[in-house]
Amino acid sequence: MIVDNFRLQLGGKEFIPIVIGGMGVNISTTELALAAEKLGGVGHISDAEVCYVCDQTFSSSYVSRKRKRYAAYANNPDKSAVLFDLEEVAEAQKRYIEHTVSQKTGKGAIFLNCMEKLTMNNASETLKVRLSAALDAGIDGLTLAAGLNLRTLDLIQDHPRFRDAQIGIIISSVRALAIFLKRAVRLNRLPDYIIVEGPLAGGHLGFGPLDWHTFDLKTIVTEVLDFLKKENLAIPVIPAGGIFTGTDAADYLTMGASAVQVATRFAISREAGLPSPVKQEYINAEEKDIVVNMASTTGYPMRMLVNSPTLSYNIKPNCEGLGYLLENGGKCSYIDAYYKALETKKPGEKLTPVEKTCLCTGMARYDCWTCGHMTYRLKDTTIRLADGSWLLPSAEHIFLDYQFSKDHQIRLPEPGKSV
Ligand SMILES: Cc1cc2nc3c(=O)[nH]c(=O)nc-3n(C[C@H](O)[C@H](O)[C@H](O)COP(=O)(O)O)c2cc1C
Repeated sequence: MIVDNFRLQLGGKEFIPIVIGGMGVNISTTELALAAEKLGGVGHISDAEVCYVCDQTFSSSYVSRKRKRYAAYANNPDKSAVLFDLEEVAEAQKRYIEHTVSQKTGKGAIFLNCMEKLTMNNASETLKVRLSAALDAGIDGLTLAAGLNLRTLDLIQDHPRFRDAQIGIIISSVRALAIFLKRAVRLNRLPDYIIVEGPLAGGHLGFGPLDWHTFDLKTIVTEVLDFLKKENLAIPVIPAGGIFTGTDAADYLTMGASAVQVATRFAISREAGLPSPVKQEYINAEEKDIVVNMASTTGYPMRMLVNSPTLSYNIKPNCEGLGYLLENGGKCSYIDAYYKALETKKPGEKLTPVEKTCLCTGMARYDCWTCGHMTYRLKDTTIRLADGSWLLPSAEHIFLDYQFSKDHQIRLPEPGKSV
């Protein structure tokens, strides 16, 4: 069996069952998402740091304006007054999403990865604005990520597209799914798809920092499929995390999954937002270089390359311009760690790296090299060029390799070819 033997049925439409996962901040670019959409699959963009991403894409000035507005707080660890202008958030979100969906050319779909943990110092209101603006802008689907999202559906229940857009959730256990469904049943709005993210995924993990390796995606997917059957619910299940070859993907489709979500292989595609030298770092990585740590200020474990520049940050918190991870009340564990390090520093001593990372700055500057566990196998997916660098495959090449490959074979890209 190959992936092309299967189709994903969603919202009355049929898709190639390959979903490119959301990768913030702007790693899953408009161009990457559109590549999947053109080929009949599903591509995600992410609204992580959307105002910053707009500034980079359209030369707007949301970040500098906000930084100026709150300049007085630059040396103040209390960031409770540093707030986003909700009209600006809505404007940026609409602009970014309209820019992406207006370029659709295929039969696929563009979904938005929306992380609940981007609390922006006003969790509910900002989430409501982000989701509503995305629906206004014509997004095909919303993937609720990074959190249990228990109240998220309530926030948009009055939106005219609440029942027409596709809405999915990312979970890592049956337990989390059951909790979410209880709430969704009350609104009579079940999710349209369920992404089951296992312990080998990139980004944040829904497992403990010490026991993540004791879990296994196949087992969790089986548990989720059994649970849905028992509950008489026909919701498409989409496994994610460590699905590296087309054959890996076909195995999940054969066992009853409706599609697969993949990301790591696409992170080094030409269309992905990481700078080229960082893509080379990913391809050169060995298994020992890939770590799961607690440096993220979200409280979730995160997988990243051990040489990520952000792990040696000791920069002043940058919440006046960014501030996407400020909890209600203006707290962030990076601020606490930074000011603690400042207090304990002896005069004349250099400030050492703090145990947390300024994730907003790190992700914005592509200094936090989050990645999936399989990153060490990326060198098997491409070839070395005469100058020693690796050839970066196109997203279309990777997509078609997932769709048509047999026996775990990986088709290598060729120099000079566009696909
Ligand atoms: C570089 C990178 C960044 C990611 N960023 C996010 C993110 O912002 N939000 C999210 O929900 N998942 C994120 N993920 C997880 C992916 O969307 C996806 O579910 C997972 O990585 C799939 O596993 P794979 O990378 O082994 O294919 C990220 C993954 C990678 C590799």
